[in-house]
Amino acid sequence: MSESVPPTAFSTVLRTASSEEHEAAEHSSFMGHLLNGRLGVDAYAQLSGQLWFVYRALEGRAAELAADPVVGPLIDPALFRTAALERDLAHLLGADWRSGLRPLPATAAYAARLEELADTWPNGYLAHHYTRYLGDLSGGQIIRGAAERTWGFERKGAGVEFYVFAEVANPAAYKREYREKLDAAGLAMDEVERRRVVEECKRAFTLNGAVFADLDTRYPLSA
Ligand code: HEM
Repeated sequence: MSESVPPTAFSTVLRTASSEEHEAAEHSSFMGHLLNGRLGVDAYAQLSGQLWFVYRALEGRAAELAADPVVGPLIDPALFRTAALERDLAHLLGADWRSGLRPLPATAAYAARLEELADTWPNGYLAHHYTRYLGDLSGGQIIRGAAERTWGFERKGAGVEFYVFAEVANPAAYKREYREKLDAAGLAMDEVERRRVVEECKRAFTLNGAVFADLDTRYPLSA
């Protein structure tokens, strides 16, 4: 009998491989200004608006992806953010929020990539699912705290609902279970496919960084 070394848990591979990209996103100029309370609420509203295009693309094909044998177990309506973003946008921009909202070039490219993957490569889509939702459940909470402090939103209330996972009772436990499902997904792929997904995960961070860079040129500092 031949013995094979079990591959490193896929959740660990993804986290480790994208740690540099994570660092870059976290320390991007736009995020830095947001966390330091140096941006106007209009910049925050634009971030929410750009995220709306992203989540519409991420969640628009979720029902079909739920049937995918590898990715399906990770699709969970409890994570969906589109409706929460819409409530935030109505609070931030008014009932007519949709009419003036346009995707920035980087956002349009990001959304196009998500739609392409949802249609053609579910495992690649998984890389984006991980990057967004685990990030929102993690660092997203830091962003929420900064937004509440800076612009006086009610704690976990209107304006920051995007960051509030009302249907996830225990985020730490949820993240643990999510990682277990990621590990199972990784075991269903061969090594070449796992590497491709890791590359797509890095690309997911790069696409997010590009949206921040686009926002940064429009909202360098509102002081
Ligand atoms: C101000 C910006 C950010 C801060 C302060 C931040 C902070 C954090 C922290 C503290 C964790 C670890 C949480 C834990 O271990 O439970 C984390 C995890 C994570 N963040 Fe961020 N983050 C930021 C931006 C981002 C962005 C822009 C993305 C991608 C769009 C992202 C994606 C992730 C992911 C995927 C994880 C999970 C890593 C894993 O355990 O596999 N983060 N973040």
